Amino acid sequence: AIAYVNGDFLPLDEARISVLDRGFLFSDSVYEVIPVYAGHCFRLAEHLQRLDDSLAGLRISNPHALSAWTELVAALIDANDGGDLSVYIQVTRGAPPRRDHRLPSDVAPTVVAFCQSRGEPDAAVMRDGIGAITHVDTRWHYCSIKSTSLLANVMAADAARAEGATEALLVRDGAVLEGTSSNVFAVIDDRLITPALRETILPGITRAAVLEIATREGIGHQEIDTLTPAALAGASEIWITSSTREVFAVTRLDGKPVGAGRPGPLWTRMRSCLQAMAHE
Ligand code: PDD
Repeated sequence: AIAYVNGDFLPLDEARISVLDRGFLFSDSVYEVIPVYAGHCFRLAEHLQRLDDSLAGLRISNPHALSAWTELVAALIDANDGGDLSVYIQVTRGAPPRRDHRLPSDVAPTVVAFCQSRGEPDAAVMRDGIGAITHVDTRWHYCSIKSTSLLANVMAADAARAEGATEALLVRDGAVLEGTSSNVFAVIDDRLITPALRETILPGITRAAVLEIATREGIGHQEIDTLTPAALAGASEIWITSSTREVFAVTRLDGKPVGAGRPGPLWTRMRSCLQAMAHE
């Protein structure tokens, strides 16, 4: 596998950054994960726009213009022989000469990128769906910034694993917001529901694609302010969406079956629409 570090392409296991890098010391950095289908990025412009928004949110200057990012990503995909991949990009505030909480004024951002293979989803997951738990959201407030400060996400995901589930759906002030690395949808009274965007939700690119498909297909849908855990527990279908997982059906929530306890008909339809869109 070939990685990119600050202008150089090199083998991933030779890629290095400084221990003084603020991404390492303070999680002072942002990232993107871009899905690649047969060598082609899905919604690259949207991912690069969100990267720019995340950088602006942390007052890190974007080191590249859109055209340079586009070339960089294309070169990285080529260097890794294309196929079905996830491109990971991380931009940190950089590596100043000393550790200091105060933001440095004259340090160039660090840019790191690499690819991971993104195979077909597990057959058992497609057939049976996944389990999820509800879990208190202990993240900081600005979750619409895709920062690498993911400790709360990682620990909540591990709480799910400890209960035999795959994802934790995060609850704050009585509202289900999103998963630890996914957005959440529910089918309630035959309508597709998802929490409306706010500062504590990442504006998922897959989420946007699902809403676009719902509009195009005439599927009744609504972005709501408060999706309570009780309303979620009564849903006939629950889904999670992300660039790495497309759309997964959640068939157990907190140990209880969701609807009929099987991936639902709307999920089947949405999954095939999303795959068709990704392969366009
Ligand atoms: N995570 N919400 C959170 C907290 C996420 O971390 C992600 C994606 C999403 C879905 O966004 P998108 O559809 O744009 O991938 C929602 C990536 C995949 C990750 O951390 O690996």
